[in-house]
Amino acid sequence: MRFDSKLPDVGTTIFTVMSRRALEEGALNIGQGFPDYAIDPRLAQALIDTVGEGRNQYAPMEGVIELRERVVEKLRASYGIEVDPREEVTITCGGTEALYDAIQAVVGGGDEAIIFDPAYDAYEPAVRLAGGRCIRIPLAPPDFPFDWDRVRASVTDRTRLIIINSPQNPSCTVATRADLDALAEVIGVRPITVLADEVYENVLFDGRRHASVLAHEVLRPLSFAVFSFGKALHATGWRVGYCVAPPNLTRELRKVHQFNSFSIAHPLQHAIARYLAECPEAWQGLSSFFQAKRDLLAGLLAGTGFEPLRAQGTYFLLVDYGRLSHSSDVEFADRLIREAKVATIPLSPFYAQPPSMTLLRLCIAKRDETLETAAGRLAAFAARR
Ligand SMILES: Cc1ncc(COP(=O)(O)O)c(C=O)c1O
Repeated sequence: MRFDSKLPDVGTTIFTVMSRRALEEGALNIGQGFPDYAIDPRLAQALIDTVGEGRNQYAPMEGVIELRERVVEKLRASYGIEVDPREEVTITCGGTEALYDAIQAVVGGGDEAIIFDPAYDAYEPAVRLAGGRCIRIPLAPPDFPFDWDRVRASVTDRTRLIIINSPQNPSCTVATRADLDALAEVIGVRPITVLADEVYENVLFDGRRHASVLAHEVLRPLSFAVFSFGKALHATGWRVGYCVAPPNLTRELRKVHQFNSFSIAHPLQHAIARYLAECPEAWQGLSSFFQAKRDLLAGLLAGTGFEPLRAQGTYFLLVDYGRLSHSSDVEFADRLIREAKVATIPLSPFYAQPPSMTLLRLCIAKRDETLETAAGRLAAFAARR
């Protein structure tokens, strides 16, 4: 039977490829973004308790109200905003499902979505499955600034969605309030919705504060904002996230959500709600926790030939290997797996048309010993050359 793929050019993600190569070669994996340390034992105990109490059947479609109320309290504490837990908060299967649902809710056949390269890889396939196409605006290393004039010039009558990710994976840059003002100005009165991927909202460095679309009076009525408990609680495998949007957008998102995942693991939702009721400060130390890891890894690598760029936020750190080699980042990353026994993530797969660059992404959400071992191996590799 002849079968035409809907995504013929989509292969396995670079994260899966590099993690698989790391296993094959016995390399230390500091590429893919997941912690290698334990979650808070109180969170683990809360899950044991909720399973034991019998929270094991379908959860409400929109998420358990206790958890949505914790989300509302968090948003109030972080951004001084009021959100309706019943009409504006939906619990999803990680941030990934929220992104997918929002895109399916808004984008239709022939529509355009503007995204910024280097872009997290979940956006474009979802836009294409909805029948739309992405207009990709490249951001240039090393600072990756938004080019709002270029965004303005890329908007057409078919533009339905602009996806902005801040703090941004993988560039590790942060959108400012002025960026959000520029975005609002570009949209003006056009029928364009914003999808704000804010899964790293709690991880900003050097005293920066996150500028959420939810705290922007012009953007809030136009925006879906996506968050992840996986990132916030060091539990990426739990796959619990949420979307906050005004009631009209939330209604449309839930139409997709109810036929996609329908509802999210019931005991996990209660466990998170209970944990956050006991430890409402769980979010608060994340910036300093990860900044210490950024500084540790950057300090160990400085001067080795893997030159760290200054990360403004996220789980990640970019390093420039240009002094060591001019081979492509994909080739060089594979060589590091084989010869240094360290797995990293090359940056070019995050671009439709990668500029010339020699950057790799390292994950800092690792135990200090892991970062020290990885840095030692990279430094030894560089010294052998
Ligand atoms: C920018 C960005 N958005 C969304 C996600 C997905 O989040 P989750 O793991 O909660 O699905 C990730 C995960 O790495 C991410 O880096």
